[in-house]
Amino acid sequence: MLEAARIQPGHRVLEIGSGGYNAALIAELVGPTGHVTTLDIDPVVTERAVRFLHETGYSQVSVVTADAEHLPSKVVPKGGFDAIVVTVDTWDLPWIDALCVGGRLVAPLRLHGCHWAIGFTKAKGVLHCNEPLPALCPACCRN
Ligand SMILES: C[S@@+](CC[C@H](N)C(=O)[O-])C[C@H]1O[C@@H](n2cnc3c(N)ncnc32)[C@H](O)[C@@H]1O
Repeated sequence: MLEAARIQPGHRVLEIGSGGYNAALIAELVGPTGHVTTLDIDPVVTERAVRFLHETGYSQVSVVTADAEHLPSKVVPKGGFDAIVVTVDTWDLPWIDALCVGGRLVAPLRLHGCHWAIGFTKAKGVLHCNEPLPALCPACCRN
């Protein structure tokens, strides 16, 4: 998912669904000039993520408790995020406005009964996907 998000140093990245570990990986990718926000609906998860990130030296990561379906506007940087990595099952992608022009959104979507990390790029106000999508699921050989 992180490769598909094409995260670069200096990027502002939103992770939806917290835990701490993946946010720390993203923090390594964006470096000191970038910024990571990780957001989760469950305060037990975010409290633990804050503690783990602090204990492992990633206190610069912003941890937010909120429902991602109603993203608080105050967490969205001016111009939008460069990348949004969705680490929770979703049947909607209500984050187009929170992405910058050219920004990447990667989400786990269900095709042929399997989950695939699908990457989209925002252009002209809509999401584009130029990646080949599987016609057949190699894991279960169903189409
Ligand atoms: C697979 S876990 C995320 C793992 C995490 N990225 C990590 O590094 O460990 C999915 C998380 O999504 C959160 N979640 C579920 N629905 C949500 C929502 N509507 N808004 C924000 N977070 C949500 C759950 O509380 C759960 O912690």
